[in-house]
Amino acid sequence: MLAIEKARKRFASGDDAVVTALDDVSLELEPGAFVTVIGSNGAGKSTLLKSVAGLLMLDSGRIALDGQDITRAPAHARARLIGRIAQDPHESTCSVMTIEENLAIAAKRGQHRGLSLAVTAAARDRFRAALADVGLGLEARLAARVGTLSGGQRQALALLMATLARPRLLLLDEHLASLDPKTAEAVMGLTGRLVAAGRLTTLMVTHNMQDAIRWGDRLIMMHEGRIVLDLRGAEKGALTVPGLIERFHGVSRGGFATDRALLS
Ligand SMILES: Nc1ncnc2c1ncn2[C@@H]1O[C@H](COP(=O)(O)OP(=O)(O)O)[C@@H](O)[C@H]1O
Ligand SMILES: [Mg+2]
Repeated sequence: MLAIEKARKRFASGDDAVVTALDDVSLELEPGAFVTVIGSNGAGKSTLLKSVAGLLMLDSGRIALDGQDITRAPAHARARLIGRIAQDPHESTCSVMTIEENLAIAAKRGQHRGLSLAVTAAARDRFRAALADVGLGLEARLAARVGTLSGGQRQALALLMATLARPRLLLLDEHLASLDPKTAEAVMGLTGRLVAAGRLTTLMVTHNMQDAIRWGDRLIMMHEGRIVLDLRGAEKGALTVPGLIERFHGVSRGGFATDRALLS
């Protein structure tokens, strides 16, 4: 359903230096695949997800979604098909608007009906039911401004917003990284429920190797702009954190074990 072919992206990095963030990356996702993505800082994980979302354009290569070439499609044209959540809750939700206004915008994403924020009674019932499922008490706060919510509540709302319009593809870029461990676990649980309920094809970048092992049905490791490990099925099921670190040392010159963010 998602087919990335030889994606290449380079950035100028001061003076004459160039960083190859994506070095001919090819990746195919089957419908309903839930893929976790790990890798050291600067491996190219965010560049990969941003390229799929249309926030960055590839230098070369091709991206197709459901057989349709979207390599050059602008981000707004992809937004109907692709939901994306990043680490910073401010990127995915609007602080000065209320919970129901945020949800109304998300529900209308990709539709050409203007940006009316009028919320119908039916829509309000639907939002309330969805929020009640989250279990954070947000269903009683439809008129609250999103800026008054905690980081965890905002990421939970962002997840609802990203999944409400039933995207073909869900992109999660370290969406739990700014949350405390307990909240991160709750929002990860919600993520798993929403992905399963919608049978959403999902790419989830995480710095938490436990989460990467425990969730999803396929695990990808990136390093220096390449996919260096791609495991699924029984092989993924048998993974352990030490085992993963060992596999990494087999494909890199080290550095992973000293990257403390990856060892949480
Ligand atoms: N907008 C940008 N301008 C210049 N360099 C960038 C930009 N975005 C990413 N890079 C560089 O590309 C490489 C990959 O970055 P990124 O995809 O953010 O890595 P990751 O998400 O795996 O930590 C890094 O070396 C980073 O510094
Ligand atoms: Mg990143």
